[in-house]
Amino acid sequence: EANEKESMYLVSEFAQKYFHNVLMNTDEGKAIGYSYFKERGFTKDTIEKFGLGYSPETWDAFTMEALGKGYKLDYLDKTGLTIVKDDKKFDRFKGRVMFPIQSMSGRVLGFGGRILSNDKKAAKYLNSPESEIYHKSKVLYGIFHAKQAIAKQDNCFLVEGYTDVIQMYQAGIENVVASSGTALTPDQIRLVNRLTKNITVLFDGDAAGLRASVRGIDLILEEGMNVKVCTFPEGDDPDSFAKKTPYDELVQYLSENAMDFIQFKASLLMKEAKNDPIKKAELIRDMVTSISKIPDKIKREIYVQECSRIMDISEEVLFNTLAQLVQKDI
Ligand code: CTP
Ligand code: MN
Ligand code: MN
Ligand code: MN
Ligand code: MN
Repeated sequence: EANEKESMYLVSEFAQKYFHNVLMNTDEGKAIGYSYFKERGFTKDTIEKFGLGYSPETWDAFTMEALGKGYKLDYLDKTGLTIVKDDKKFDRFKGRVMFPIQSMSGRVLGFGGRILSNDKKAAKYLNSPESEIYHKSKVLYGIFHAKQAIAKQDNCFLVEGYTDVIQMYQAGIENVVASSGTALTPDQIRLVNRLTKNITVLFDGDAAGLRASVRGIDLILEEGMNVKVCTFPEGDDPDSFAKKTPYDELVQYLSENAMDFIQFKASLLMKEAKNDPIKKAELIRDMVTSISKIPDKIKREIYVQECSRIMDISEEVLFNTLAQLVQKDI
């Protein structure tokens, strides 16, 4: 219902201002939150731009402030900002630095809150729950700030996390958004698709998640987008790399290391298969599955030729495998 959603937007906007004010103007916020962001290399301008904040280490300070200002408990509950249990109510976010998540048009939909210590007991990030205004699978972190640059550069950099977006943006690469850790969904891809047909996926430097992330990229191909990928040196993510790299070098690194996704995947799979023929057969099917997702027939053909070369398999074998997967129009 329209009224209810609007009330949820308003209380979220209030929360963003509250957390930001605690960060900038209270002893606890300055000593703990602001100094944390400074340590990560965020400037004051960046903190302001992204509306970052800090949630104080108390039971219910935010909730009481919001209720005192006339915001209804019902909406605090529905946005997940307040946890209501029997007749008790307390703040969801406590002692965390706060990243407001904004819609394409800049409205605050929810929050990601990061713990400050790397104490492994608590989840590193706590996020707002799904609600009428916050659908995790339909939002891309950073899209509000990135949209103009995405259209202008005709390319969108996709990273994993909040801090990757912020650090890249601060470094001067403004066409950047994050999927917030999960595999990209069709709805998220469509948000980008409205602005550009080109996506460059930037992976964290740890090889661990690589195979899983690579699998998710088929979805982007299916939307008819052109996908490039770029990896970083072992141990770096876009955040840590952008933090230590001057703008010109960063731009150069990204352009020199961005590789067409199909070629990247073919090479990656070849390294894995080495000289094992059974494994190679499996990987060929995996590769052709990716190619089969591309809606454009001519592009599919070009990629078959490429893969034939990279994987050292005849085009005929690839085309036959492809024909089994694409019953449509090949
Ligand atoms: N994430 C999450 N909940 C977690 C861990 C991660 O929602 N418990 C999401 C966050 O959006 C996070 C992204 O997944 O930004 C990527 O996770 P990770 O690489 O672990 O975190 P970083 O963004 O690199 O965070 P930091 O640099 O602060 O450690
Ligand atoms: Mn401010
Ligand atoms: Mn990661
Ligand atoms: Mn990361
Ligand atoms: Mn990181």
